[in-house]
Amino acid sequence: MEKNPIPLILDTDPGVDDFFCLAVVCAHPDVFSLCAVTSVGGNNSTDVTTKNAMDILALFHHDAPVFRGSDRYLTEEFGEPVVTAHGANGLAEQILPDSKRVPGKEKAWDAIYRIALEEQGNLELLTVGPLTNIAIAFLKYPSLSKMIRRITMMGGTNFIGNIGPYAEANIGHDAMAARIVFESGVPVHMVGLDSTIQCPVPLEEFEKMSGHTDPFIRNTMRELIRFRKGEAMHDAVAAACMIDPDIVSWKTADVTVEVNEGLTKGMTVIFPDENGNDRVAHNPVRERYLAVFEKTVQYYREGFYESK
Ligand code: RIB
Ligand code: CA
Repeated sequence: MEKNPIPLILDTDPGVDDFFCLAVVCAHPDVFSLCAVTSVGGNNSTDVTTKNAMDILALFHHDAPVFRGSDRYLTEEFGEPVVTAHGANGLAEQILPDSKRVPGKEKAWDAIYRIALEEQGNLELLTVGPLTNIAIAFLKYPSLSKMIRRITMMGGTNFIGNIGPYAEANIGHDAMAARIVFESGVPVHMVGLDSTIQCPVPLEEFEKMSGHTDPFIRNTMRELIRFRKGEAMHDAVAAACMIDPDIVSWKTADVTVEVNEGLTKGMTVIFPDENGNDRVAHNPVRERYLAVFEKTVQYYREGFYESK
């Protein structure tokens, strides 16, 4: 039985679309009990993504602690910041108020294990970055996989990739970590690029739904959408699928990841199997996603800060 609200750790590398994922999660306290956010780098340094995570949470008036994660992928160093997709500061050069928050003292993987113990089998993970922290947690704590109810993941793809012919960024940047996670035994609900890409929210639609949104939040969201030229905010789609699983259809499967060097490195290899451990999203219904997105935007109504 799913616990309601779901005790959740969000593992993220903010990140323009991670911003919207945090927005969705924080706007649905009826669905999520956000226990912690764990940060990972790759889009930018882990210093930058950790600071962004803390400032975004403060903007959305959520007091979940942030635990800093890895400074490198399992098998290699991070590359240069992905400025084209996220800007030099990870947030399309938008400047958020300095929250002055500091990360928790534990490392991300230690916090995940401790919270999993506390939640007694009910903890769920939402992962929207490379899977390094989660893989380290499984390697360090072999009993952890029995303690996590489900992982919902923005990652992978049914066909075309964005960092290689078959590789989506969150999987391909740390393919070994992703394989460890898929093979951990925890059921993974994979919301891949081929689904998320079909759920853009163009600026005109955002303007219509956000008339009563807090002006600072509205302006920040608007600039992020503009920076991405109206393309989909992938990570927010995965969060929305936890709120309304019928945004997509699900295929039961077993999934693993190609880790060998070559054209297919980072590919999510999907074996359809009705008794499989994983579920793979397909056929998104954009209107259903828009409903969650609109509710999110309207949660941060004018006067939002005063009401807190
Ligand atoms: O492929 C999309 C993913 O990689 C998202 O999580 C986004 O934040 C990006 O860096
Ligand atoms: Ca991300």
